Amino acid sequence: MKEKIEQLKAAAAEALKNASSKEDLEALRIKYLGKKGELTGLLKQLGSVAPEERPKIGQLVNEAKSKIETAINENRDKIARAAKELKLAGEAVDITMPAKEKKVGVLHPLNRVLDDMIDIFKSMGFDVVDGPEVETDHYNFECLNVPADHPARDMQDTFYLADKLLLRTQTSAAQIRTMETRKPPIRVICPGRVFRADEVDATHSPVFHQIEGLVVDKGITMCDLKGVLEQFAREIYGKDTEVRFRPSFFPFTEPSVEVDVTCSECGGKGCRVCKGSGWIEILGAGMVHPNVLRCCGIDPDEYSGFAFGIGLDRLTTTKYKISDIRLLFENDKRFLEQFD
Ligand code: PHE
Repeated sequence: MKEKIEQLKAAAAEALKNASSKEDLEALRIKYLGKKGELTGLLKQLGSVAPEERPKIGQLVNEAKSKIETAINENRDKIARAAKELKLAGEAVDITMPAKEKKVGVLHPLNRVLDDMIDIFKSMGFDVVDGPEVETDHYNFECLNVPADHPARDMQDTFYLADKLLLRTQTSAAQIRTMETRKPPIRVICPGRVFRADEVDATHSPVFHQIEGLVVDKGITMCDLKGVLEQFAREIYGKDTEVRFRPSFFPFTEPSVEVDVTCSECGGKGCRVCKGSGWIEILGAGMVHPNVLRCCGIDPDEYSGFAFGIGLDRLTTTKYKISDIRLLFENDKRFLEQFD
């Protein structure tokens, strides 16, 4: 019996040396220590041993059992550690490798110019407000003194979504919303996208951007309008820029003007960009029509105001000498990356 125990111990130790996986170990555990295992088998034979020998042999079997158990456990730890090390080695980071370049995007030219404009107007005390792109006939036309069937509706080709529901053709709609919710003194700008059913070419797009401006207070005159817009033009185009006001027509302003600045390409001499005139038109403006003030519940006998609408796309193409407005919408990265 003693010999058998020794043999088993030796065989188990030998088998353990060759065990290289968790599965091998489990098989060994079952073989030696399991319910039907070899050591259990020995214990079962204890009955055939002389009674005085029994405690001794029993003790030996138990010792062998715990020895094999400990050895298996130690081996299991070793295998687990080795597997972990192998995994870590596979995941090791080579810190001598060059880092991947992180590309950071740049601001779109339209946003750059818009940010500059917002800064300029904020410094003059204007707030920035927002308005919806899907507008009602009331805000886009009716309250802006353009009733149904008014010939001025032909000035803008409108995308209609449903009866009296449209894509705003001008940010002027935001004037009305502002006057409905704020009391004078009002000084706001509203930048945003506008939509007109125009054919696409180098200078036209069915989607473009305007910045609406509105000032309403007691005693506002055309002089205020001229002062603000001249100041704006010089800040955006440079202090030597000249500004010219031409009489014009908009249904919601009276009198109305169009504002030109000296061409930034030729400085006013005349070139391809300004079509030889030396001037570039950048905005429409005028004194808010009394009908518009009245429609918003503001008394035109007490208050007056001026409004302007600046074309952001034109401003951007002339400022950056971009020859085709389509470049602003195509999102060609080669074009956009130039504005780094
Ligand atoms: N809404 C006009 C346009 O789109 C521009 C404008 C705005 C003119 C405000 C006068 C006052 O043409």
